[in-house]
Formats: sequence, structure tokens, C-alpha cells
Amino acid sequence: MKLGIPKEIFKDERRVAATPVSVQKLIKLGYEVIVETGAGEAAHYNDEAYQKAGASLAVDTRSFWEAADFVLKVRAPMRNPSLRKHEIDLMKEGAFLACYLWPAQNPKLLDRLAERKITGFAIDSLPRISRAQKMDALSAMANIAGYRAVIEAANHFGRFFTGQVTAAGKVPPAKVMVIGAGVAGLAAIGTANSMGAVVRAFDTRLEVLEQVESMGAEFLKLDFDDEEGSGTGGYAKQMSDEFIKAEMALFAEQAEEVDIIITTALIPGRPAPKLITEAMVKSMKPGSVIVDLASERGGNCELTVPGEVAELHGVTLIGYTDLPSRMAKVASDLYATNLMHLLTELTPEKDGKPLVNMEDEVIRGLTVVQQGSITWPPPKAEVQAKAPPPPGTEEPSPEAMRAAAKASESRRRTGKIALLLVTAAALYGVGAHAPQSFLSHFTVFVLACFIGWQVIWNVTASLHTPLMSVTNAISGIIVIGAMLHLAQAESAAVGIMAFVAVLIASINVGGGFRVTYRMLNMFRK
Ligand code: NAI
Repeated sequence: MKLGIPKEIFKDERRVAATPVSVQKLIKLGYEVIVETGAGEAAHYNDEAYQKAGASLAVDTRSFWEAADFVLKVRAPMRNPSLRKHEIDLMKEGAFLACYLWPAQNPKLLDRLAERKITGFAIDSLPRISRAQKMDALSAMANIAGYRAVIEAANHFGRFFTGQVTAAGKVPPAKVMVIGAGVAGLAAIGTANSMGAVVRAFDTRLEVLEQVESMGAEFLKLDFDDEEGSGTGGYAKQMSDEFIKAEMALFAEQAEEVDIIITTALIPGRPAPKLITEAMVKSMKPGSVIVDLASERGGNCELTVPGEVAELHGVTLIGYTDLPSRMAKVASDLYATNLMHLLTELTPEKDGKPLVNMEDEVIRGLTVVQQGSITWPPPKAEVQAKAPPPPGTEEPSPEAMRAAAKASESRRRTGKIALLLVTAAALYGVGAHAPQSFLSHFTVFVLACFIGWQVIWNVTASLHTPLMSVTNAISGIIVIGAMLHLAQAESAAVGIMAFVAVLIASINVGGGFRVTYRMLNMFRK
């Protein structure tokens, strides 16, 4: 089957859906690849690089669409003004398509795809579960947008980000406030922090507090006990009017103090909440900058002009909606890798033939049209369990949530008491009947477990993986113990057990060092 990579025709879109590196991998999956001439030019990938990677070139747009059986794109298909035909009508009937489709917003597009019996994969509808992370283009692009937002802000800001003491005078560091600490917000926090700014952040989901602090920012706390913003699948839920009022009071206070505001607050399926008012913009110092990453969905700031940079009340308002495309090379690299992973999932036999396994929750989630029938939205129970709720879905009432929390708390307490009683009875039994030699070993064992548990409990969660890999690496003590047993094995059973212990502990030691080494490498420049 021929995979086709067209040149994007959406205004100012510079990304491309495959790079020479991804083309090589796609060919290994058994596909032929055809690239439209100039498809990668804006992302700095020329035609020769694609040819070298093994792709063939389509000399013009029409011959490209006639040849491709499976089209990989960035933007949803649209009308081609020079051919005066919609890209869907240029496609082969019964072909495959993978790109952004935004099915909830584009029902007509789905009808059109269904009419042409096309199987459409909407990369934006991928269930956001761990297994699917390698295909998660939304996260990959949000990360770039967060980084670029800071770069754009720095470009329009008339001062350093970092504080400086020079012979010519002292310059204070820039103060940055990030609203919304999802993927884009965290990337913005990390970038601004690494450039030396003082960063503060706010999110309705308290679960991100630790992530915000580990990226080097201060988490702005709101004195509002009754509400927490976590919804389904890690996303935010719509907050009450009282909560929004309270957080806006916090932003009003901060607006007078900070130099740059980066807003990323979004709730799936709803317009962006308006959090920065004209009065707040007016209260900011002249020369301040606001970057509104929610501008495509209406903006978090009342004054944002989507797609434009505006200057109002002495403040620069950046409303760009194409931030990933402004870093086309890296955005294309990451997007092409996301699609390559999708194709790997779709082609388990590596025979160049996509297999749409609707039993697989990831494939089911992003298949929005299958050979003439619209399959979006996917069934709730299996696929949407972790994905954002569709618009209009009701959250359980606060009373019901409180009652459920109370019931689960009392269940947990009963469980704890029962466990305590069973443990006490078991310890009594061991103490009363076990031989003296066993008891001394047993005491050491119980103490070791208790102290180990206390030590690990006090280590911050983000350091658990490196800690575990290091403890694995030092599990060499087991090897020594088992080797002593091997040397003096009295029976075959002891010998075998000691041998198995040496084997498993050695794997642990080797694996521990390997994981530690790989983690350390992640922090090396
Ligand atoms: P998003 O772009 O939908 O929202 C951005 C942020 O805005 C969220 O952190 C949200 O809590 C915040 N927000 C919403 N309303 C707000 C308000 N009124 N005031 C302040 N902040 C507000 O979210 P994104 O970045 O696409 O993902 C959000 C989360 O989804 C991630 O942090 C993660 O927990 C989860 N996720 C899980 C993945 C997985 O594979 N398991 C992959 C990607 C995301």
C-alpha cells in the first residue's frame, strides 16, 4: 500500500506529517511512501532527503492524490483553491486518512469522509492513556506551544528574564505567571524558569502542585476549600462561578505585580474560560506581555485577538494560534514520530496493510469513520473512561461525591483495623511458637521492612523511580548471602534456591545500574 505525504495547504501551516527519518521506518513496516513535491520545504526537509530515505516524489498535487492509498496529514482536509476541489474528493475512494479531524467540531467533514468510504483516524481523539502516549500528538504539540509561548513573550518583553547586577545598574528578574499547568503550562514554566524568571503558576487541579513545584515555580494557592478541579482522565472540570470569581481575584492581585502572563486554561469540549479582564490588563505595568494559548478556543483574556499580536493599554497581547507550526522542524519531527507509532500499531504484521482492530481501545478511540460509517464517538465504557467527557456530560453532584467519599473513607478505616488485628494475631502466633533462632532473624526482617518503608515514604514521589533503581543496584547483599549458601549447601533444594537467588539478584543489580545510568543520561546535556 502507498502512504502519501501531501504539502499542507492550510494558511501558514509549515509542518509536514512525515520526515525522512520517519519515512525510513514507515518503509520498514512494508509500505511504499510517496511525497508531494515540496511537502517538507517549510519544515526544512527537502525533496532529495525524502528520496534518499526511500520515498518517491509526486510531481504535482493531482497525481499525488491519485496515487496515495493512505494519506498522512497534519491539518484536516480542506478545499484546494488551486484545483478548486476538496481534498476529500481528490482522495481515492476507500482510502485511509490520519490527521487532526476534531470530530466533535466537524460533523460535516465526517459525513464527507463517510460518503467517500474513507477510513479516518483523528489523531486528536486518541484516548490519553499511558499505552498511547507515544502517539499523543496533542501533548507533543502542547509542549512545543508552551515553550514557544515563552520565547514569543521574551521577544516582545523589553527586559531580561534573569535578574542581573551590572556596573550600569541592577536589573530585577522578570516575573511570570502561568495559568493552567497542563502539558503546555508545565512546558512554559520549565522554559521561563530556565531563562531565569521568577515563575508562579495556578491550576484548578491540585494534583499538579507537585509538578509545578518540581519545575521550579511557586504554586499560587487559593483559599477555597470546597472545590477541586480534577475531572475525568486528568482533565479539568468546569468550576463553579464562586471558584472562578475567587481565582480571578487572585489573578487581579497578581496582574499588578507580574510582567508576563501565559494562559493555557482549557476544559475539554467547552470554550476557554475568560479569566483575565480588561481591568486586569489595564492594571499591568506598561511593557508587560500576555500570551494567550487558549486563543483558538476564544481566549482566556477578554482582549485577545486570535491569531494576532495587539498592543492595548501598554500591554502586548499575543494570540497566535499556530505556535507549534512556528517551530516547524521539531513539531514535524515529533508529529511524524506520533504517526509512525500509530502506523506501527495499525500494521502488526509489517506487511504494508493497515489492520483496523476495533477491539483495541486506542485504535477504536481514534477511528472516527470506517469505510463509510461514522464510528465517532466511541462507546463510553471502554474507550472514554480516561478521555475527556463529551460536551454536556453531567458531573455527579457535590453531595453525591461527598457521600461516596465518606463511605470509601469508612471502608478504608474498617479495612485498616482488620489488617492491624490480623497482623497482631499473626505476630503473637509467631512469637509464641517459633524457635529462638528464627525469632532473632524475624525481628531484624520486620525492623528492616519498617525502616525501609519509613525512609521511602519520606522521599518525594518524583524520586521514587531513581531511588528504586539505586536500591536494586545495591541488592548485591542478596547475591553475597546466596553465594554463601551455595558454598555450604547441605541439600540440593538449598543449592537450587541459592542459585535462583543469585540469578535474580544479579539481574536486579545489572538492571538497576542500567536504569540509573539511563536516567542520569536524561539529565546530561
Ligand atoms: P488542557 O489543555 O485541556 O488544559 C490545560 C490546563 O488548564 C489544565 O491543567 C487544566 O486543569 C487547566 N485549567 C482549566 N480551567 C482552569 C481554570 N479555570 N483556572 C486555571 N486552570 C485551569 O490539558 P492538557 O494539557 O491537554 O492535559 C491536562 C492533563 O491531562 C495533564 O496534566 C495530564 O494529567 C493529562 N494527560 C494525560 C496523558 C496520558 O497519557 N495519561 C497525556 C496528556 C495529558
